[in-house]
Order: sequence, then structure tokens, then C-alpha cells
Amino acid sequence: MKLGTPEHRDLFCRQFIETHVSFDPERLPWPSLDGETLALLRAFPFWSYAESIEARSARMVELFAHTIDDPLIKEAINVQAVEEYRHERLMSHVLSFYGVEAPALPVGEPRATREDFYVFGFGECTDVFIGFGAFSLAREKEIFPSALLGIFEQLLFEEARHVVFFTNWWRYEETRAGRDAPVRRTIEALKYHAKAALGTVGDAPKTPMPKLEGRFAEVFADVTPVRFLQAALAENRRVMAKVDPRLLRPALMPTLGTLALAGLSVLPPRAAPPVRDLWKETFERQTVAA
Ligand SMILES: [Fe+2]
Ligand SMILES: [Fe+2]
Repeated sequence: MKLGTPEHRDLFCRQFIETHVSFDPERLPWPSLDGETLALLRAFPFWSYAESIEARSARMVELFAHTIDDPLIKEAINVQAVEEYRHERLMSHVLSFYGVEAPALPVGEPRATREDFYVFGFGECTDVFIGFGAFSLAREKEIFPSALLGIFEQLLFEEARHVVFFTNWWRYEETRAGRDAPVRRTIEALKYHAKAALGTVGDAPKTPMPKLEGRFAEVFADVTPVRFLQAALAENRRVMAKVDPRLLRPALMPTLGTLALAGLSVLPPRAAPPVRDLWKETFERQTVAA
């Protein structure tokens, strides 16, 4: 399949729309937690930050959809907005259900030009790669019950779908505009990743990233940069293997991660271990119980 063609557009849009899963965050099988696990969940330092990121993403994606003329691309971006709003709802449900104290952070008025969406999309690619590492380590350490991790696995898979959609859409647009030479593309991708890392999307409120501290820092104290990169790369391979092989995947973060790992260690990335599909298990249990 040739990039930048109507067939390419139909594939990445339809795949995205058709893999949307309907559910209400409030009706998911949230497990009850013992005192120690609940204390650990409440000590997670990123709740306010994560909720504000989701709230801002939802508004930004919804606004950007209004600027799109192509009806199929518009429909797909609207599906992403639905999922980002649901992430915001899911986060706030976690906070109320488990009694987590996390003050709401200012969301501001997001801007949604094409340039802003590029920065946002590449920023999501970075966030998903880091999320893969964090989630994989949380699963490995079994710090939360699998039913809870299963719910967050679904959320992370939705974010993975967002970055696959974004990567294909960006290449579709760049190819059609005659800007698809590999060197230029790599420089552009690096530029947008850097802009995202510097938090230069529109008038985004400057919210400093919290530090990992307290009980959480203790649990992850033995995680070295090498171990984190190995976990992120293995999880990236595992999740991206679920995506239609005809679609492009984000390449820059896995490439930079692999290079960093090579610089930090002479050991190759570990093979992906067999991993249980927690989301599926959670919902199968729910079906059996119903
Ligand atoms: Fe999200
Ligand atoms: Fe997203």
C-alpha cells in the first residue's frame, strides 16, 4: 500500500474507528483494595498531572477535529476526542472511587492549529513509550491487582492506537505535501518531540512534572535506566504487534530508546516475556460473574 493515497487514509482511519471499544469507566469492575495497596495507589504522585493532561488532550483533539475537512479523518479524530474525554472521566472516577486526594490542575484554553496537533501527537508518542515502561514494570512487580492493571492496560492500548493513528495521518499529510524525504522527516519528528518535551503547545499552563517519591520511589528504587528501557522496548514490541501490520508505527522513540540502551549497556534488549492479557482476563471474569 502506498503512503499518502486514499487507500492509506481509509486504512488508518477505519482501523482506528473500528477498534474503538465502548465502555463506561464508572461501570468497569473496579476491584476493592487492601489497606497497603490502597495507600500505595493514593501515594502515586502523578494523579493530578495525569488528569489534567487527559482533560487538556480531550479539549484540544475535539477542537482540532472541527478544523478538518476530510469527513473520514474528521470522524476518526472525533473518536479520539471521545476516548480522551473518557480517559478524563476514568481518572476522576479512580480518584473518587479510591478516595485519592489530587487537586485539579488548571487546564487552560488549548489551541488547536495543525502545528499544535503535530506537537501534541509527537508528545503522545513520547508519553506512550514512557507509559509502556512504567506499566510493564508495575505489572512485573505486581504492585496492584491484575483487575486494576487490566483497566489501565486498556487505557494505554487506546493511547497506543492514538499514536499509530497520528503517525499514519502525519505521514499521509506530509507525503501528499511532498515533504516525505527521510532526512527531512526525521529532523521534523525530532523538532516536534523537542517542542512537546519543552511544553510549547499553545498556551499550556506550565505544570511541573512531579517527582517519584515516597512509597512509590521505594518500590521502583531498583529500576535502572537500562531496566526501564528494556521494559519499555519489550512492551512497545508486544503492544505494537497487535496493530495491523500494514500500518506505520511510531519509530523515533523506540529507535532513540534502542540507541540509548546500546550506549548504556552492551547487552541486547531482553526478549519480551510471555505476558498475560490483563484487560481480557478482567472482562472475562466480569462476563462469567454476570
Ligand atoms: Fe488519553
Ligand atoms: Fe491520547
